[in-house]
Amino acid sequence: MSKLFSPLKIRNVVFKNRIAVSPMCQYSAVDGFPGEWHFVHYGSRAVAGTGLIIQEATAVSPEGRISYGDLGIWTDDQLVAYKKLTNYISSHNCIPGIQLAHAGRKASATKGWEEARSLSKEEGAWKTYAPSAIAFSDKYSAPDEMSEDDIKKIVVDFKQASLRAVLAGYKTIELHFAHGYLVHEFLSPLSNLRIDKYGVSFENRCRLALEITRAVRSVIADVVPLFVRLSCTDWVEGGWNINDSVRLAKLLKEEGVDLIDCSSGGNISSAKIPIAPGYQVPFASQIKKEAEMLTCAVGLITKAAQAEEIISENKADIVLLGREMLRNPYWSLNAAKELNVDAEYPLQYLRAK
Ligand code: FNR
Repeated sequence: MSKLFSPLKIRNVVFKNRIAVSPMCQYSAVDGFPGEWHFVHYGSRAVAGTGLIIQEATAVSPEGRISYGDLGIWTDDQLVAYKKLTNYISSHNCIPGIQLAHAGRKASATKGWEEARSLSKEEGAWKTYAPSAIAFSDKYSAPDEMSEDDIKKIVVDFKQASLRAVLAGYKTIELHFAHGYLVHEFLSPLSNLRIDKYGVSFENRCRLALEITRAVRSVIADVVPLFVRLSCTDWVEGGWNINDSVRLAKLLKEEGVDLIDCSSGGNISSAKIPIAPGYQVPFASQIKKEAEMLTCAVGLITKAAQAEEIISENKADIVLLGREMLRNPYWSLNAAKELNVDAEYPLQYLRAK
């Protein structure tokens, strides 16, 4: 019996299997709105037997976008535009999830396939915000240090975005607290040099993460699963680390977070990351055990047997696939074949089973 293809219930949502598309920016939105690219990209992965799709980083405000191509959910008109997408994904028994994000000091930048750097004034650069006025690298502009009012606005933006997300038909919400974007910048002592109630101590650096989580949980129904993506380590001495992540996971659990999506890095441009197959799985495993929470494993998971082992050995509850899903949208159907699982096929493709 394959554990990878066993269902998982979180609150009122049943995921038909443990395979998910990892959130991946497509840099193809116009004014934050999804278009045909998004419909085909996400739709094809829903048709292909995936249990969950976590839509790419979707900005809670225009200035929270990484680039002009990011999706956004800061207006009710955008909410309506996502409805077609979530209806289609749901119609294939795939759970539509959304990742809500604010890019902090890494906002106002180029698209993913361009050289990574801040936009110039001529290219339409906008003002960026962060806990402290420290640029991400010499390719990025220095952000403005946020005032307490700026911070309050961020909490409201996440709250309103999550409400819109639920109304738009998303059945799982993930908060993006990883990869050196705004909330991660607050968590890490290397990017947060504040001396007010949002800085210095662990508790203070976690304050924004907890305030956002509390605000989001207060407006989404109890039945909606809430995930948080963390960078479990900065991979730099003196930075955020896995023990901090376990501690934060426990606090997030108290605020109603169901699952930690365990990624790493992204906050320090000079970090040396030991990338290898499944290199972040130990983080998912440690948080699962020590914080007694559900976890997602992500990062160079490409093979059916590898994914099956992660789930069956209880190292994580869901596997997320990123780049492999770009190369091979039908990964789930192929994995089912390899593992001798009688997976659900779209009727139109039944003769290929
Ligand atoms: C990403 N990743 C990413 N992560 C995230 O949390 N939000 C996002 O919007 C994006 N965007 C994005 C775009 C593209 C094109 C890639 C390749 C990656 C990271 C992604 O979700 C995943 O964590 C990593 O790619 C590692 O997993 P894989 O690719 O080794 O399976």
